[in-house]
Amino acid sequence: MSNRILLLGAPGAGKGTQSKRLADAYGLEHITTGDALRANKDMETEYGTPREYMDAGELVPDGLVNEIVDAALADADGFVLDGYPRNLSQAEYLSEQTDLSAAIFLDVGEDELVRRLTGRRMDPETGDIYHIEFNMPDDEEIADRLVQRDDDTEEVVTDRLDVYYDNTEPVIEHYRETGDLVEVDGEAHPDEVFERISEVIGEDPSDD
Ligand code: AP5
Repeated sequence: MSNRILLLGAPGAGKGTQSKRLADAYGLEHITTGDALRANKDMETEYGTPREYMDAGELVPDGLVNEIVDAALADADGFVLDGYPRNLSQAEYLSEQTDLSAAIFLDVGEDELVRRLTGRRMDPETGDIYHIEFNMPDDEEIADRLVQRDDDTEEVVTDRLDVYYDNTEPVIEHYRETGDLVEVDGEAHPDEVFERISEVIGEDPSDD
């Protein structure tokens, strides 16, 4: 059966970086509520626009994100889910929609999270993720067009981490209690972290 992987972790833990690699290596759909919301930031909904919540570092209402995940799961065979569930009610909703083959928690300390988030830069053309210290593109044209996410300023990062501790840590605790959680040390080079996750999945990526 296809892999149905949940990648959990704080903002900046490397979920986006590793999800992209996993999707490519294992032929999975990358389902990310963050990217889906950023692509529709100014869409008017019954809850207002996603931007109102995201730029303040708050969670977007469950009704809106549940719909996004619903639609994405309906189209996906195997997937890596990144950025959802972020609170217990989303976790309960997810358990009604699908079974998971792995719930992997990327563990990274707070100082490192702040360094990664405030230094992150995005390529608006490709969506590729870079970092001013750890990972800049060689191509100057790409380097010149990189932008900082609106919610990666130091002030909003602090709020996002508070929201994570209040809402998402209980989700991690929930998967720990059910015995489904596998913890992976996320403080290493991205290649090494990928190796560690691949070991958990227990399948040679080149087989897909
Ligand atoms: P979202 O986009 O999901 O943001 P996040 O969870 O805060 O996670 P990030 O994307 O910031 O971090 P990441 O773990 O993906 O790290 P990355 O790989 O980029 O959500 C944004 C907002 O949308 C939320 O605040 C909320 O408002 C809303 N939202 C989304 N989902 C929602 C939901 N389910 N419910 C309600 N609201 C929702 O890496 C970070 C940086 O570190 C990069 O620069 C990267 O190059 C670098 N890096 C990565 N790995 C390493 C490494 N091993 N070593 C050194 N540097 C590294």
